[in-house]
Amino acid sequence: MKVFAIESSCDETAAAVIENGRLILSSVINSQVLEHQKFGGVVPEIASRRHAENIVSVARQALEQADIDLSEIDAIAVTAAPGLIGALLVGVNYAKGLAMGAGKPLYPVHHLRGHIAANYLAHPDLKPPFLCLVASGGHSHIVEVSDYTVFRVLGCTRDDAAGEAFDKAARAMGFPYPGGIHIDQAAQKGDPDKYKLPNPKIENAPLDFSFSGLKTAVINLLHNARQKGDTIDIDSLAACLQNRICQALVSRLELAARQTGAKQIVAAGGVCANSGLRRALEAMCQKNGYPLYMPPVSLCGDNAAMIGAQGYYESLLNPPAGWDLNAYASMDISQSFENR
Ligand code: KG4
Ligand code: ZN
Repeated sequence: MKVFAIESSCDETAAAVIENGRLILSSVINSQVLEHQKFGGVVPEIASRRHAENIVSVARQALEQADIDLSEIDAIAVTAAPGLIGALLVGVNYAKGLAMGAGKPLYPVHHLRGHIAANYLAHPDLKPPFLCLVASGGHSHIVEVSDYTVFRVLGCTRDDAAGEAFDKAARAMGFPYPGGIHIDQAAQKGDPDKYKLPNPKIENAPLDFSFSGLKTAVINLLHNARQKGDTIDIDSLAACLQNRICQALVSRLELAARQTGAKQIVAAGGVCANSGLRRALEAMCQKNGYPLYMPPVSLCGDNAAMIGAQGYYESLLNPPAGWDLNAYASMDISQSFENR
């Protein structure tokens, strides 16, 4: 079964053709990052307008790369939540028009379910159940995945997402948007014990995260140093910040794995491209004897291939969407579109 997938939830316009949820026949990503960089973050209206301009050519390229005609596609999948609402609506309406015109069934996909499904593309042997860490620019979740479409959130962030903490601290440190990758690169040259940063915990919620205090601590440290005329070793500050974020994510994942008796561990989302996080996950899983699955860095960020992978599994269990399908800025990963 060949699924044609569309993704437009943030600042990447993407399309892909995926076979049976596991094989990438094509994947095209048009990133707007250079345009948003000027503003230090994603400007929602600009993102929507660029999606509207680019989506037809990105979709065409994906069909061309797969050397396939729309008539040979079995189903269309589209990210319908969560994300920037204007950006999502461009993808949803384009996919609806395409599905209606070509007479194909349309399946809405939850963006975070897509991030998790990137692992099905990278690891043909991976099957649920597993415990998953999802860490992206907008979300930080520990999710129990008991089947391809059955999810339960065990822990989540109370404020900023991990990627948001990386990006906001990076901005204060003078790095361009998105700063996560710059922190990663700087951290490789720094001393992770040089600066003391807080390790916030949530009372009575040991699996939840809080990252906003960490971001504030970095901003205050930089501000105080500037006022006193002290110089800050940015590489070491990056290493300390990365260490704290990775420690927070991996320690809670380890606790959740112990509590649920997890048999295998999966990581997903843009932040899983972080080299420190990948090392920390490997060490934790090796220590406990858990098999670990992570997407290659190329599939960690936003793409449509992951939406096509999850769209395939949604299509096996759910009826196609009606022509009244809407997009939603927020939606729990455990919720299904029919019950919204
Ligand atoms: O999953 P994603 O591409 O988009 C969302 O769904 O949000 O995640 C983007 C986030 C950004 O915050 C970005 O800075 C972060 O992933 N990121 C990284 C790295 N690469 C991307 N954070 C830390 N280290 C990296 N190497
Ligand atoms: Zn994402």
